[in-house]
Amino acid sequence: MTIELRELTPRDELAFMEGLREWSGEALHWYSFAWKTGMSFSEMLDILSKERLGKDLPPGRVQHSMLYGFVDGVIIGRVSVRHTLNESLSQRGGHIGYAIAPRFRRKGYATALVAHALQYCRDLGLKDLLVTCSDSNEPSWRIIEHFHGKLQDRVWDDVDQETIRRYWINLG
Ligand SMILES: CC(C)(COP(=O)(O)OP(=O)(O)OC[C@H]1O[C@@H](n2cnc3c(N)ncnc32)[C@H](O)[C@@H]1OP(=O)(O)O)[C@@H](O)C(=O)NCCC(=O)NCCS
Repeated sequence: MTIELRELTPRDELAFMEGLREWSGEALHWYSFAWKTGMSFSEMLDILSKERLGKDLPPGRVQHSMLYGFVDGVIIGRVSVRHTLNESLSQRGGHIGYAIAPRFRRKGYATALVAHALQYCRDLGLKDLLVTCSDSNEPSWRIIEHFHGKLQDRVWDDVDQETIRRYWINLG
C-alpha cells in the first residue's frame, strides 16, 4: 500500500471524479471547495493553482493548498492547508482541515494524511498551526492530540451553534 498527499495534476481527472462519488449525499465541501457541477477539471485545476499561489483571491480568502490523499491511486480524502490565518480562520477553521470519505474511515488514514500535511506546512515555513474542531468530533480531536496539539480554549461558535476546540500544534 502506498499513501501520498499531494496536489492534483491533469492526470488525476478520473480519480477525482471517482472520489467525488464517495461523497454523494454528504456536504461537498468535505471533498472540494473549488468544484462546481459543469466545470471542467482543468478549470478547477486553474482555481486550485491560483489559490495555492495566492493570485486573484476573492475577498476573505487566504492563500491555500488543497492536497488529496491517494492510496494505491484512489482518492480517500483531502487536507486543506491555509498558508495564513484571517480573522474568520482564527476563530474557526485554522491552518488545516481534513476529511476522509466515509467508506475509508477508521483505518488511520486521516492520521497518516495529517502527518504528511504537517511536513508540507513545515516546508511552507510555518512554525505553529492552529487546528480547530467541534468539541463533539472525537476522531478529529484525537488526531490533533496525537500530534501533541495544545488546547488553547473551548469556545462557542455562533455560526454553527456549537462548542469548538482550538488547538495549536508546534511544528518544532
Ligand atoms: C475526522 C475524520 C477525518 C477522521 O478520519 P479517520 O481516517 O477515520 O481517522 P483515523 O482512522 O486516523 O482515526 C483518528 C483517531 O480517531 C479515532 N476514531 C476514529 N473514528 C472514531 C469514532 N467514530 N469515534 C471515536 N473515535 C474515533 C481513532 O481510533 C483514532 O484515534 P487513536 O489514534 O487514539 O486510535 C473523519 O471522520 C471525517 O472525515 N469526518 C468528517 C469531516 C470532519 O469532521 N473533519 C474534521 C474537521 S475538524
